[in-house]
Amino acid sequence: MKPDRILQKAFFNKLQLNEPEIIMTMKKTNVLILGSGGREYTLAWKIKQSQFCNNLFTAPGNAGTSEFGVNIDLNILDFELIKNLVLKENIDLVVVGPEEPLVKGIHDYFLADPEIAHIKVIGPDKAGAALEGSKDFAKNFMIKNSIPTAKFETFTRDTIEEGVAFLRKIKPPFVLKADGLAAGKGVVILSEIREAEIELREMLLNQKFGEASAKVVIEEFLDGIELSVFVLLDGENYLILPEAKDYKRIGEGDTGLNTGGMGSISPVPFADLSFMKKVEDQIIKPSVKGLLDEGITYKGFLFIGLMNVNGNPYVIEYNVRLGDPETEVVLPRISNDILELLIAASDGCLDRQTIETDPRTAACVMMVSAGYPGSYIKGKPIEVKKSSTAMLIHAGTTFNTSLGKAVTSGGRVIAIMEFGDNLEDALANVYRSMDCASFEGAYFRRDIGNDLASFKPMNTSGC
Ligand code: AMP
Ligand code: GLY
Repeated sequence: MKPDRILQKAFFNKLQLNEPEIIMTMKKTNVLILGSGGREYTLAWKIKQSQFCNNLFTAPGNAGTSEFGVNIDLNILDFELIKNLVLKENIDLVVVGPEEPLVKGIHDYFLADPEIAHIKVIGPDKAGAALEGSKDFAKNFMIKNSIPTAKFETFTRDTIEEGVAFLRKIKPPFVLKADGLAAGKGVVILSEIREAEIELREMLLNQKFGEASAKVVIEEFLDGIELSVFVLLDGENYLILPEAKDYKRIGEGDTGLNTGGMGSISPVPFADLSFMKKVEDQIIKPSVKGLLDEGITYKGFLFIGLMNVNGNPYVIEYNVRLGDPETEVVLPRISNDILELLIAASDGCLDRQTIETDPRTAACVMMVSAGYPGSYIKGKPIEVKKSSTAMLIHAGTTFNTSLGKAVTSGGRVIAIMEFGDNLEDALANVYRSMDCASFEGAYFRRDIGNDLASFKPMNTSGC
């Protein structure tokens, strides 16, 4: 912990100040959110509710984020443009939504420039972001810290024959992962050994995923149910946020191509106290300690993709950001003032905070463009009906000034989120509200959460 924080804590302890009095010492904050999806809409919605929020900007944002602040159209990988914006608008805190700016070193860029080094950035530096930016780094980190994960080996074009021999040694299905970022497409799971060998050659020799597949991780298949666990870190202390389950396939019954995520629920029924204790003891604590041992000061969200294999958690992957569409159910379940948490994460004093969770269940269903995750047409006008209970979360939308309304601009267009007293109620509520938004060709899965509930969707209107 930095000396000024220790002094500040000692000062508060001596005066026996309680939290509300400490809060009064926090100033109003100008915030910039980087990104444009449903995750960033939900962050903007939550940050806008903070008593510490002054001006809020989202870059580039979407048609919905402008409800909460100002949208700034810029390329989030152009760090110089971001610096100019931050100085012009007196930004105090930058929340980085997606992984790419983090993996490319946005946090390091801020720290290295005396004009902006004091600005708080939520998201790890390049060394920490390697947990998502390199699967090989992440797997070796897990092994070094005895964190349960699938057995693996990493291969390059020079060791391709060893890779083939490794494939022949393990049991199908075969899991091949491009080492670097590949826009969510770098994981290939195949049941036939011949297909797996061809895929390995495609990745390593023909650079199927460009530089990202210069190295390929081959690992054993984990058979179980997935869930997403989120942790907020301040470099030393951590808070566990509500967990969520994401439904990744386009088709009902988890069939068809992978997508960015078709829906989510939180809490996850099987993530009970005893399972979450295993997650904390076997995965979260060694991950936080492992980062410290590497000399990485990780300030930001850590998303741990887990497989529950017969009641035991195994790490599938780390992401260095919040998930999408998990954020759409996780943030609504957090009752805390989010800026208080983010400022504490940046200042290294998360040990003074506790997460307050809404006990209700949140369910979110994503409406996507016809053709997604393949090619799709943009620019379809979106009709929206008001609902007193449903949260309409903009994702791939943009405001069309000549039409005077939002139009589609991405594959995943709008998410609808509703609460319920239990999973069945939350699902009944969200499916009743799906007619709150519509556009030509809209598609959504009708079975989100069904694997964990006995619910079947109804077709009545909630709007
Ligand atoms: P990713 O694109 O990294 O999110 O991974 C895609 C998906 O591949 C994960 O969400 C899992 O469903 C699946 N996956 C990755 N690794 C494994 C594994 N070792 N065993 C089973 N499924 C896996
Ligand atoms: N929902 C998975 C992700 O955000 O990567």
